[in-house]
Amino acid sequence: MPLIIMVGCPSSGKSSRSQELKEFFETSKGKVVHIVSENEIIKNSEISKNEVYENSSKEKMIRADLKSNSLRKLNKNDLVIIDGGNYIKGYRYEIYCASKSARSTQCTIHCAVTREKSWEFNENRKDKNEVYVRDIFDALWMRFEEPISTNRWDSPLFAVTPDDQLPFEDIYNAIYEKKPPSANQSTQNPPTQSTNYLFELDRITQDIVTEITAARKLGSIGSVKVKDSTETVSISSDINASQLNRMRRQYLNYSKQHLDTAGDLVKAPTLFVQYLNTVLSDL
Ligand SMILES: *[C@@H]1O[C@H](CO)[C@@H](O)[C@H](O)[C@H]1NC(C)=O
Ligand SMILES: *[C@@H]1O[C@H](CO)[C@@H](O)[C@H](O)[C@H]1NC(C)=O
Ligand SMILES: *[C@@H]1O[C@H](CO)[C@@H](O)[C@H](O)[C@H]1NC(C)=O
Ligand SMILES: *[C@@H]1O[C@H](CO)[C@@H](O)[C@H](O)[C@H]1NC(C)=O
Repeated sequence: MPLIIMVGCPSSGKSSRSQELKEFFETSKGKVVHIVSENEIIKNSEISKNEVYENSSKEKMIRADLKSNSLRKLNKNDLVIIDGGNYIKGYRYEIYCASKSARSTQCTIHCAVTREKSWEFNENRKDKNEVYVRDIFDALWMRFEEPISTNRWDSPLFAVTPDDQLPFEDIYNAIYEKKPPSANQSTQNPPTQSTNYLFELDRITQDIVTEITAARKLGSIGSVKVKDSTETVSISSDINASQLNRMRRQYLNYSKQHLDTAGDLVKAPTLFVQYLNTVLSDL
């Protein structure tokens, strides 16, 4: 019945940790353990890993499968480990609500790692189909929403770095010696950010850059209207896609550091356009 959610940036050791947990719970505690692996789901979808994370609709599809496959395996006795990035706060909240309504206990394991180290792991992967390209790797780091132990849906939270031992007994106690939370508080205090905020912001800004680039190709310069923005973009003749993408990444980086003041997504296209206009006028 219990559920363990692995959380981590690319190449932070989630799959190895999942295997260690499986081994422990099977041999020391005699449990049946199911690992539901995002990598496996991607493999079966026959879409490459990089393609999945560069296209938000594909990523959503994989995430939906990961969630439904995991929840389907929840039963009275077995342990389910969700081995995936699970980097979106709103997504973890959804899983929490579902596992709670199945009367399941759960805990979160954050595989913490430095960006340099994870890039090194990434580059040294044996299976070359699993290597992230730099852009996707950076984008996933950017969108990553760290679990926080004071969020009910991330709690109890265990963080491990590559050098740490997993606190096996504490994890066991957290999920087997504890009563599941009562089902009727599940909707109190949902995440205040609209769910999937950074993920959606990434998609929105990507669409706008695509629109501007397409307009440039058709020869448009000056004021260009982009979908869902109340303001137009002033583009000059010598701007190119890689410059726009760099601005987009800076904007996402800035947004991530100011999440507490983030507004709603409806205004996001206009705010991004205003940002672009400011940066473009300074070039
Ligand atoms: C993203 O994936 C969807 C569904 O597979 C596809 O329809 C769409 O064209 C893709 N978008 C891009 C930008 O590749
Ligand atoms: C809901 O929560 C309240 C207070 O926490 C409790 O008294 C009540 O029994 C709960 N109801 C159900 C159906 O669990
Ligand atoms: C884009 O423009 C910048 C600045 O003008 C230039 O350094 C860069 O090489 C250009 N990139 C491409 C792909 O054309
Ligand atoms: C994001 O912003 C921080 C602080 O402003 C900076 O240190 C970091 O290098 C930026 N990262 C990227 C990828 O631009």
